[in-house]
Amino acid sequence: MTLREAAMQVRENAHAPYSNFKVGAAIRAASGTVYVGCNVENVAYPEGTCAEAGAIAAMVAAGETVITEAYVVAGSPTPVPPCGGCRQKLAEFGAGDVAVTLATTSGVEKTTTIADLLPGRFDAGHMEG
Ligand code: THU
Repeated sequence: MTLREAAMQVRENAHAPYSNFKVGAAIRAASGTVYVGCNVENVAYPEGTCAEAGAIAAMVAAGETVITEAYVVAGSPTPVPPCGGCRQKLAEFGAGDVAVTLATTSGVEKTTTIADLLPGRFDAGHMEG
């Protein structure tokens, strides 16, 4: 199964009754295993979580910490840009040159990198000295 297929499939399970905007994310980890996540909204709106966060949580729960590729899909008119928080979450586990493909359900794709999504990112080096 491709990352797109995995992301499209998990997107169907999104819990998005408030925004009606379903998102699916699939990330490949260093072992080659693919982890998926969908957005999970809550009636207390700020408690909702993004698809990327769900996929990352599944990866970490399975004992992995290195993202080698990511794919995010939504029913948006143009490829869905990850929110700021998700950019930081992706940067925690992926090197700057890791490819992140943003996509629409209709098949438009835009591939970028974690570094391009989050220039000037805050990382552990900023806490030294
Ligand atoms: N959302 C994601 O899950 N990932 C993104 O990259 C963009 C936004 C979700 C959060 C919320 O449930 C809905 O999309 C509308 O913002």
